[in-house]
Amino acid sequence: MSNYELAPKTEPQRQEFFIARGKELLSNIEKKIGRHLTCCVTTFGCQMNARDSEKLLGILEKMGYVSTESEKADLVIYNTCTVRENADNRVFGRLGILNNYKKKNPHMRIGICGCMMQEEHIVEKINKSYPFVDIMFGTHNIHVLAELVVKNLEEDVKAIDIWDEADGIVEDLPVDRKYKFKSGINITFGCNNFCSYCIVPYVRGRERSRSPKAIIREIEKLVADGVVEVMLLGQNVNSYGKGLEDEITFPELLREVDKIEGLKRIRFMTPHPKDLSDDLIDAIAESKHVCHHIHLPLQSGSSEILRKMNRRYDKEKYLGIVKKIRERIPDCSITTDIIVGFPGETEEDFLETMDVVKRVRYDSAFTFQYSKRTGTPAAKMEEQIPQEVVTDRFDRLLKEVQTIAHAKTKELEGKVVPVLCETVNHESEGLMSGRLENNAVVHFKGDSSMIGKIFNVKLDEANGFYYMGSIVE
Ligand code: SAH
Ligand code: SF4
Ligand code: F3S
Repeated sequence: MSNYELAPKTEPQRQEFFIARGKELLSNIEKKIGRHLTCCVTTFGCQMNARDSEKLLGILEKMGYVSTESEKADLVIYNTCTVRENADNRVFGRLGILNNYKKKNPHMRIGICGCMMQEEHIVEKINKSYPFVDIMFGTHNIHVLAELVVKNLEEDVKAIDIWDEADGIVEDLPVDRKYKFKSGINITFGCNNFCSYCIVPYVRGRERSRSPKAIIREIEKLVADGVVEVMLLGQNVNSYGKGLEDEITFPELLREVDKIEGLKRIRFMTPHPKDLSDDLIDAIAESKHVCHHIHLPLQSGSSEILRKMNRRYDKEKYLGIVKKIRERIPDCSITTDIIVGFPGETEEDFLETMDVVKRVRYDSAFTFQYSKRTGTPAAKMEEQIPQEVVTDRFDRLLKEVQTIAHAKTKELEGKVVPVLCETVNHESEGLMSGRLENNAVVHFKGDSSMIGKIFNVKLDEANGFYYMGSIVE
């Protein structure tokens, strides 16, 4: 009987079967060539993808691959992003380089997964112009990686499996975390908001919430394994809980997570302003461990553009939320995402965005030039903005955002704040890097035994976006 007839039909048992089968295959190859087989997972895009990559790596290591940072590995997987056109272009550019490596290593295999794979025109382009790709799968079935690797190695055929939609949520897959002391946790998958510029709902499918029990259990396990900081992940965490058997809201989940013994910091991403409730602000204010930092995407300050973007809030509502946050949590930092050059954006619309930026005074902001995504409503809108106008507005916005961010960074100079020590600073001998509650980076003297612990650090000097600091006993 073939693997496919023998394999269990239910998950995760089916993948456990293929992981075991893969382990045998790999060990046979290793015996023949006299060395370990290596793998490398490269992540493009957001925290969701970063978390998915940890799952992919967990599966591959369980199969026996030795993970490496080098893309000259025996199996390289690109976990792709398609949110803007330049994300696609980056992947296409780098695939050519991978092919050169492959020509020199007869054992090398190349896989692509992630958001780009959910777009038909991209899959067609890869099949036609990048025939050396061996494995392709999408965002809804990352759990089948072992099955595809086995198929490719055993039958020496291309293994392609892309699903149009998710078939439930597969829990309890192996995971290899990038950081020992912090982790992302999916709370929802997909998105139902259909902002008119955005491709995510098409490539990530409909919104699904994980059960609170599964989330709490996962966090408890992580804490037992040394994690002190979690980031709860969803395209709109504020709609968490919809459609679940036990009705639960995001603030309620946050309160439950806050009770977990041993957890020191809780972050979350992204709360959509349209459903940000007073209860969420209360839950953060009353919590012991939720960081006083809210990433609140603005996208545009013009109510007319926000309407065309289908964001379902206007300038006044957004500023009202910011006011409430500032009143209830005075030391809360606020960061944002902004798009310039959305179709139909006039100079007046753009000045509304600048007005919000000046009023809110963001601690930092990601600024993007609008990118036309095939299949989204905005791609068909008339009045696409000429590139030189977009560039001009983008430059003006960036300058404003940076001036304010520098001034905000300066405000904390001289203060003593709790800092989670995260990494060795590779640029200067004897320096460590850590993060404040507001996510800003500080460098201070120390050694690697400090990683994963929280220290009181005096922010001696603000240098643009980061600080130089010193530990206070
Ligand atoms: N779910 C999150 C956003 C995820 S995408 C939210 O609603 O805030 C991350 C950011 O990419 C968005 O906030 C937006 O600013 C930007 N973005 C999304 N689609 C884009 C496009 N077509 N062009 C430019 N920027 C885009
Ligand atoms: Fe995209 Fe809007 Fe969903 Fe965010 S909420 S992922 S911007 S559609
Ligand atoms: Fe990109 Fe997909 Fe995230 S398109 S931003 S990786 S959900």
